[in-house]
Order: sequence, then C-alpha cells, then structure tokens
Amino acid sequence: MNEFICGMPKAELHVHIEGTLEPQLMVAIAERNKIKLPYKSVEDVRRAYTFEDLSSFLEIYYSGIQVLLTEQDFYEITWNYLKKASSQHIRHTEMFFDPQAHITRGISFESVFIGILGAMMDGEKKLGISARLIMCFQRCMSVASAMEALLLSLPYREWIIGVGLDSYEVGYPPKKFASVFARARQEGFLTVAHAGEEGPSEYIWQALHYLKALRIDHGTACIQDMQLVALLKAESIPLTVCPLSNIKLHIFDSLKMHPLKKMLDMGLHVTINSDDPAYFGGYINENLLAVQEALRLDHNDIYRLARNSFQATFQTAKEKMTLL
Ligand code: HPA
Ligand code: ZN
Repeated sequence: MNEFICGMPKAELHVHIEGTLEPQLMVAIAERNKIKLPYKSVEDVRRAYTFEDLSSFLEIYYSGIQVLLTEQDFYEITWNYLKKASSQHIRHTEMFFDPQAHITRGISFESVFIGILGAMMDGEKKLGISARLIMCFQRCMSVASAMEALLLSLPYREWIIGVGLDSYEVGYPPKKFASVFARARQEGFLTVAHAGEEGPSEYIWQALHYLKALRIDHGTACIQDMQLVALLKAESIPLTVCPLSNIKLHIFDSLKMHPLKKMLDMGLHVTINSDDPAYFGGYINENLLAVQEALRLDHNDIYRLARNSFQATFQTAKEKMTLL
C-alpha cells in the first residue's frame, strides 16, 4: 500500500508557496539577507511550530515570510518545493502565493512573481512537472488592498491561472470580496476560496454564491449541512482537503476523527493536499499515508483521491491527458 501511495501519479491543488519554506532554508535566506530571526537554530524554529489554531499558525507563517526579499529568495522556495513535489510523483501542481504579504513590506510584485515563474519554468524543463499559480487575497485585509494586488497582477495575467482567498477565516465572510472576484472573473481568472476550514458551512455557501468559487479549499465544515453536501455533489465542486494541517490547527482532535472517509463515502469530490508542508509536518505523500492508516482507506479510496486530484485541476481535457 505504501508503495502504491508514494509511487502513484498525483496532482496537488492546495499548497501555499510561502508555506513550503523549510526551517533550514529560512535560516539560510535570513543569513543572506542579514535578517535577525527570533530563533537560535533550525531546531529552535521547528520547536516554535506548535499551533493552537489558524490564527496562532498564521502569526508564525507571516513572521517566517519576512525573510523573503529578493527574486532569488522566491525562486529558491519555489524550486525547493517543485523538487520535493516531483520526488513524490506530483505531475501537476497549482500553487498559491500571497502577494499582499510581500507588497505591503515594500517588495515589488514583479520580484515575487518573476522569482516564482523562473522556478516554474525550470520545473517544467528539468523535472517535467507542470505548475500553475493562483494568487490569493488575504481576507483579513481590505477590499481596496485586494483590488490593488489584482491590478498589479494584470501584466502577468497569462501566467496566473486563478485567484483565491486565504488567511484568518472566522469573522471574515467571503461575501465581502464579491466585487474583487467579479473583476477577477472579468479579467479571465478562475476562482477558488478557502472556506469551511475553521469557519462555518455558511462561508462555503458564500464562496460559491458570491465568489463563484470553482473549488473550495478545505471545506470540511460542509458535513454539518446536508443541503450544502447535496449541492457540492450535484455541481461536482472539488474540495481540497489538507488532513495534517487540520490536525496541527486543531480543526479535528485526531486523524481518526477526520471526516475525509465520510466525505468520500458521501460521494464528494475530495482531494488530498499539503497546505503548508514545512509547518504541518508533511508533504502530499505523508498526508496520504497518514489518512490511509488512520481511516483504513483501501486501494479504491486512494485511487479515487488521485483521480479526483487530476479531474479537479484547471488544466484543459487535452492537457490532462498529458499528465497521466
Ligand atoms: N489557511 C488559511 N490561510 C492560509 C493558510 C491556511 O492554512 N496557509 C497560508 N494561508
Ligand atoms: Zn490553505
């Protein structure tokens, strides 16, 4: 079973590039950029990675991001992730990045974007991995700030496949961003949104209704609402579930309590993803191995998860054929 899981081709649809910053690379980049970290060693960084909830994680995540200043820094984190992804037989990945977390620190959109794009191109050429970008708006920031990021992205429009919504969830309903998402759709971006991770199922309804999200990131709260489950099934809306993230952020008490198997059995279009692998203790294979064991998933379940991941990509039918 383990070989089957690790060796099978898969797609990853929910990974934050900034969340792939491994402690070792964080320390190396901080040294290069002459930034003083609040940690003494790589082990010290790892020890800081215990979280009570989404907010306590995001504080550490946004603090880690501070080391990223140059195009080279963005190239390196992306390249590192793509190498790891390729080694885990990920054929295609749709990666989030958080432009507002960088432009508000005075870093140009261009440096962030060009660094990431360079690594994506090398990934395609040297590793044979196909990679796409989704630009996330931070829901805790203003609509004007999200619109500013959207306008800055327009010159690079052809390289960014979609927009998403992330960051602190409770108290920040998706509805607030309806106008930004409407403009993004007009510009040709596809849309996704984090919803129902820590927040209620109502936020999933809102993401579908007001943002016209084509996929829901996390979305596990849907199981509290059978009408919503029926809609997600009828519309075949993919849910990009991140099990190790959910446990580290105490969304569920243990993997045995995770609703993934229930969601699969209900016929929902679930996929497995790593979210912020450097912070949550595992990339896609570690997530798959952990849920397989805790929930006693069989070969059929695992195969469905991999098949779902390819079906849920934003690739065209023709492009999908080349991934398998
Ligand atoms: N949830 C919400 N926002 C995020 C996350 C997450 O896990 N990671 C980075 N931004
Ligand atoms: Zn996420």
